Amino acid sequence: MKNNINKKGPIGVFDSGVGGLTVFSEIKKLLPDYDYIYLGDNARTPYGNRSFETIYKYTLEAVEYLFDCGCPLIILACNTASSKALKTIQINHLPYLRPDGRVLGIIRPTVEELSTRSKNQSIGILSTLGTVNSKSYNLEIAKINPNIKVFQQACPMWVPLVESGEITGEGAEYFVKKDVNKLLIQNQEIDLILLGCTHYPLLLPLIRKFIPSSISIISQGTIVAKSLKDYLRRHPEIEQLITKKEKVDFLTTDNTDLFNQKATLFYEFPVESQFVVISI
Ligand code: DGL
Repeated sequence: MKNNINKKGPIGVFDSGVGGLTVFSEIKKLLPDYDYIYLGDNARTPYGNRSFETIYKYTLEAVEYLFDCGCPLIILACNTASSKALKTIQINHLPYLRPDGRVLGIIRPTVEELSTRSKNQSIGILSTLGTVNSKSYNLEIAKINPNIKVFQQACPMWVPLVESGEITGEGAEYFVKKDVNKLLIQNQEIDLILLGCTHYPLLLPLIRKFIPSSISIISQGTIVAKSLKDYLRRHPEIEQLITKKEKVDFLTTDNTDLFNQKATLFYEFPVESQFVVISI
């Protein structure tokens, strides 16, 4: 582990694969001047159906890697990693990894926005099994407003569908309809649905088809970007550690051609990734 205290560097953005690019693209649009490293653990994606221990271990390896690259601030742009690993890493590892650094997740900023948006105080959340089982959304929403009712539905097939480019066909339609209906029957009052997984915005046209127009659907990218901007304004001691040359490096733990090709689904500019090994 390098001693990087006071060292300037890029913002690290981590996801289990390419899905986090839906979040990163909004961050880059809103905060274009900073340098970034986007790291996708494609060799071990998806995380969504894995155990707590595995997600925690993989996420910690990624965080250590990004701190070693000199990142003073790391965003876990993955709901599964944010819900399963963030707190433990912040409490147990940050103090020795980089005491002047920060690791932030995407659940808290999402919840802050969600809690102001449901008139009926009844929110539906579509996400991976890992995120559902962690109950992170329920716990964080309850901290802000215990009167809000939260209904969750895991959609274990949606990430593999998106990863294989199946976002419009009959197969995708079957699984999207099935899981959306399972959420809607849980409560008649739901008036707001969160796409609580990085991949789901790509299925939005199909998801919309099975959700009445009276129910709003929200994705996380713009929420996380706005919240990061606000965070950097409130924390000049972190902001001044971030380099600003508009440089972006894309790193993947698997085949770079595959990453570059999949990235076109999630990111509007061409991507040239580099292969890295992060596992210990
Ligand atoms: N990035 C993950 C999330 O937002 C989805 C992909 C996965 O399961 O690894 O939960």
